This record gives sequence, C-alpha cells and structure tokens, in this order.
Amino acid sequence: MKSMIQPFKLGYADFGCLSVNRMADFYENTLGFTTVEVGENGAYYISAGVDHHNVILRSSSTSALNTIGYQIAKNESLSDIQKYLKTKGISSEIKTDFQPGVSKLLEFKDPDEYIIHLFQEMEMPAPGYKLDKVSPHKLGHIALGSLKPKDSVDFYMNILNFHYTDRIGDKATFLTCNSDHHVLNISNFKHKMMHHVAFELKDSAHHVSSADYLASKKHEILWGPSRHTAGHNIASYHHDPELNVIELYTEMDQYIPELDCFDPRPWHEELPLKPRNWDFNCTWFTKFENDIIDSVMKKVKVGN
Ligand SMILES: [Fe+2]
Repeated sequence: MKSMIQPFKLGYADFGCLSVNRMADFYENTLGFTTVEVGENGAYYISAGVDHHNVILRSSSTSALNTIGYQIAKNESLSDIQKYLKTKGISSEIKTDFQPGVSKLLEFKDPDEYIIHLFQEMEMPAPGYKLDKVSPHKLGHIALGSLKPKDSVDFYMNILNFHYTDRIGDKATFLTCNSDHHVLNISNFKHKMMHHVAFELKDSAHHVSSADYLASKKHEILWGPSRHTAGHNIASYHHDPELNVIELYTEMDQYIPELDCFDPRPWHEELPLKPRNWDFNCTWFTKFENDIIDSVMKKVKVGN
C-alpha cells in the first residue's frame, strides 16, 4: 500500500539545551525571533515571525536536536496515517494538547530514532519580524548525520513521500517535501547528530547585514557566505551558544516535481538542471567541512 502521508512544511525543531536562558537569548536577541510562550515545563516556544513556534528550547542534560515537526494538510487523517504506519511496523501515538500552539499531533520515530511529529494546524499569533536583528524569514532545513543513512532515506522517501533532489556521492542525500531544494539533508557520518539547522534570509544583501550583526554580537562566521553546489544556496555558518551549527542561506534552488527539475538559474552548471550526483570533491568538502564535522563530533563526544 502506497503511503498517503504528504508533509508540505518543516514546522519546528525541538532542542534539548544545557542552558535554555542562554539559547533563548541567542534566538531572541541575535537571530531576532520572538518567544511566544514559555510552557509549564519551562520550554520556550519561539516564532520566526508568524507561527506559534518554529523552534522549541527545553532544558536537558544534553544539548541536542530531539524532535522535528512537519505540517500536513488539514484533510489528512492522523488516525489513517497511524493505521498505515502500523502496516509498516512503525508504532505511533496521537497526542492531544501535548504542546502549546498545536492541538493534535502524531508522534513516531525515524530510523535514527529522531522523534517525528506530524500536525495539521498550528496557531499563528504572528509576532512579526525584528528588523534590527538577523531576522531570518523562516526555518528552512535540517541536516542530520545518520547511523542508518540508507534506511533513513528510504523512510523519508517511501513513508513520508519526500522527493529526492540531489546527492553528493555516498556522503549526503538531499530531500524535500515542498519546492525548496531540501528541507532535509541526510549525511553518512556514522553518528546520529544534527549537522546544522538552517534559516532563510531575504537575499545576498541580507547576508551582508547579518554578517555585520553577527560580528557585533561576537558570533564568528565559520564559512561563507558562498554558493553551494547541491541546492545552489548562498550560505554562511556560525555556532549558537551550545555549538550547534546554524546556517543562514538565500537563493536556494526551487524544485518542480512535475518536471523533476529545478527552476532554471543563470548559475546552474547544466540546463535544465535535474537532481544529480555531485562531485564529492566539490568546494564545500574543503577544510571547512572537516572542521565542521570535527566540531560536531567534539560536541557529540563531550555531550555538550
Ligand atoms: Fe544546509
């Protein structure tokens, strides 16, 4: 039986934090997001501008991404999805009033045991954008290091109906559930870890002002801004206070599933540009990539 599950939006990322206050200060006063609500358990529900939350920060003994929430259409039945998942041997639970802003969600785990939420509706208090901070427009994508990259790619493509959009050898596979080139990047690092979380900027000028603002807040830019191969997004990377890698990007390729190709751009290496296998030795796999893996591995080892 073919899966009927069709996420269309990366809704939220839920992080365990060693210091929720320090992380919330970063999201509010550096990125410029807004805390909409602090839950009874002390968790911060933080909005990029419209949704009740796009980032959740909760106190934990380890600093790590725990849960990813995807939005599905209103007419998709959570109980039907639950029945379908059961046929695939995947246990799930429908949770009501489990977290503020989302009245009902379905919870299950991916092959790396990241917790996945599917939800139909989220409150939209629309706190707006703080234009004197970095002020990204949205949560765009998450890159995960996987212990089981093949299983994980199969899961997202065949159970959650993500589109394959690119790969870099056996190193990374790019997947999307909407028009963005990727909302998920699964990398073969032989470790379960978040490689980075990415937020979208308006344009390259926004990169310049963001870089200046990050410098004023003593957040060193680790790489970029520079244009990637897969996705062609202009990207820069910096650390949050707990050494999670944050990407800011713009001009990401837009995927047209009906054509299985990307909206053409002058900087594409081939026209029309279709999902392809990029050279492992492309520019991103330079010293920066080794440094970033080292820094993420260091975080994994010390449990920071
Ligand atoms: Fe990225």
